[in-house]
Amino acid sequence: MLIPFGAPMIGAEERAAVSDVLAGPVLVHGPVAAAFEQAFAAFTGAPHAVSVSSCTAGMHLVYFCLGYGPGDEVIVPAQTHVATAHAVELTGARPVFVDAEAGTGNIDIKKIEAAITPRTRAIAVVHYLGVPVDMPLVMTIARRHNLFVLEDCALSPGASVDGVHTGLHGDAGVFSFYPVKHITTAEGGMVILRDAKLAAQLMLKKAFGVDRTHSERKVPGIYDTVALGFNYRMSEIHAAIGKVQVKRLPGFLEQRSKNHAALSKALGDFAGYSVLPAPNTRLQSCHYCLAVLLGEAIAEKRPSIMAALTAQGIGSSIYYPQPVPRMTYYREKYGYNPACYPVAARLSDRSIALPVGPHLSTADMHAIADNLKEIIKSLLL
Ligand SMILES: Cc1ncc(COP(=O)(O)O)c(C=O)c1O
Repeated sequence: MLIPFGAPMIGAEERAAVSDVLAGPVLVHGPVAAAFEQAFAAFTGAPHAVSVSSCTAGMHLVYFCLGYGPGDEVIVPAQTHVATAHAVELTGARPVFVDAEAGTGNIDIKKIEAAITPRTRAIAVVHYLGVPVDMPLVMTIARRHNLFVLEDCALSPGASVDGVHTGLHGDAGVFSFYPVKHITTAEGGMVILRDAKLAAQLMLKKAFGVDRTHSERKVPGIYDTVALGFNYRMSEIHAAIGKVQVKRLPGFLEQRSKNHAALSKALGDFAGYSVLPAPNTRLQSCHYCLAVLLGEAIAEKRPSIMAALTAQGIGSSIYYPQPVPRMTYYREKYGYNPACYPVAARLSDRSIALPVGPHLSTADMHAIADNLKEIIKSLLL
């Protein structure tokens, strides 16, 4: 692949940091994860940051600490990765899906209130493709109904609303460091939040609910267990990569922004597709990728268009392949009414996500746009 959709930006510094950890005695529960947490908190402006083994683990851990279970409901966007819903479902609570808005693909804020019931405990939002949700509007609704707000920030490091980083508008923000994300630790995640008490709960329950870490144990092997908990920790090896990556994140974001602008311009106005519009200046995107929405006439040709791009060495992807409520597990459990999710379905069925990552150059953006236009033109003939 000449222009892969995503490529982890791992360099000499990440390799050296991993080697250092491997040369030492502490592989888990050590100072590197704590240093990564501090660095990520500094980057986002968060009072607290808790490293976890993945974004999914972090979201599940938050709901677990809040005590959600059967009988509870959480509002979840229909247009997201299945993890946003699974994190709710794993607690025994029910995800209640809300359709996307056409402009950004984010949760349709106007439809949230109609989905709230006496059982609703929280609202989850996803900053779709790095374009932030207009959080003050969501927070007004949440306060009115006394609901917790979880921001799924898997695609939003560097994205902000009114100058405040995503993840800090709601009650907790959870990030992913999966390989194609803005920064990677191979697998990994981070929860950021303002509430010190909840942060302490997350720390406790991500590590079995034991009352002291290895370094806090005066006598080795002596500890007590004060709560039910998971093993959702991030290892020192993963954290070592993350600590270097977070330093490089501003540079990555700059290249993403440049690439996104170049690709938008090069795609221009064209009969075959529309480009999801750029957000306004209050909503600062971190440019995860650029999605084009195929026109109705060629929508069903999407597999051939993507295959033709692959044949030219250009990677593309789909975010996300189906509205979550249409996926087999959720459809079979809760039923699926297509009339409820027309926007999410249109995005899932007709969009193609194009890469803008820091592994690519302006020339690559031109190659993507030129090839896509040629491919679509040939299909329209
Ligand atoms: C919006 C969103 N949330 C959550 C996840 C899951 O992240 P992780 O693999 O770190 O659990 C993803 C993964 O792609 C995602 O896109």
